[in-house]
Amino acid sequence: MSDGVFDAEVAATYDADHGGTDPALVAATVDVLADLARGGAALEFAIGTGRIALPLAANGIKVAGNELSAAMVDELRKKPGGADIPVVIGDMCEARSEGTFSLVFLVFNTIDNLTTQDAQVACFQNAAAHLAPGGRFVVETQLPPLQRLPFGETRLPFAHDPDHWGVDEFDVTTQAYSSHHLWMKDGQAQHLAVPFRYAWPSEMDLMARLAGMTLEHRWSGWDRASFSKDSTKHVSVWRKL
Ligand SMILES: C[S@@+](CC[C@H](N)C(=O)[O-])C[C@H]1O[C@@H](n2cnc3c(N)ncnc32)[C@H](O)[C@@H]1O
Repeated sequence: MSDGVFDAEVAATYDADHGGTDPALVAATVDVLADLARGGAALEFAIGTGRIALPLAANGIKVAGNELSAAMVDELRKKPGGADIPVVIGDMCEARSEGTFSLVFLVFNTIDNLTTQDAQVACFQNAAAHLAPGGRFVVETQLPPLQRLPFGETRLPFAHDPDHWGVDEFDVTTQAYSSHHLWMKDGQAQHLAVPFRYAWPSEMDLMARLAGMTLEHRWSGWDRASFSKDSTKHVSVWRKL
């Protein structure tokens, strides 16, 4: 199986290049997830380098994961506690982890890495299949910034730091978008393009309903602030019936 865009080169610098490691953000994320696990076992879809799984496990929650990229899991394994987390290498739309869980979570915009509606629907179904009745599926993802996209325009910058430039390219007919990153490293430009598909929260509610789950919370972030017209992301929690 291919590692996709998260190959060994990308995996080696993933934590430094893609952010999300701010201790306050990680602590807030872990706090919400630990609360929602209610003492039961948790399964992270697309566990990556263990940015969240490892501190959650350190908080006393039993954590397992799945991941498409063996290279990302190699990075997880190098970290303290990384060897103890069972990870199935496979596609989160169909990969099966042993056991039943009280929490399945998919964070850091990663639902968007599934580039078709069918794949996103299958992901919700696979999450539900791992949950005990009453268990919860949590998705954290950004809202597509279409209100900032002038009519007829397809590209929006999202980063303009001295050593990192980013531009998103949208196709509003298919909900496909690509994030283009350009990093300057040792005087060399490195380009990475990641294909995504956005789905509106209401579309995800339908995916959840198809999978036998119902919306319990929708927050605008890990601080559990209310979701509103000004929200730029959502943390949604669906409960298996
Ligand atoms: C943005 S990273 C997030 C990693 C980790 N969850 C975190 O919060 O840091 C996206 C991850 O999703 C993985 N991924 C992409 N498509 C996947 C799929 N279909 N099944 C499982 N993992 C996938 C990538 O290999 C990558 O590790």
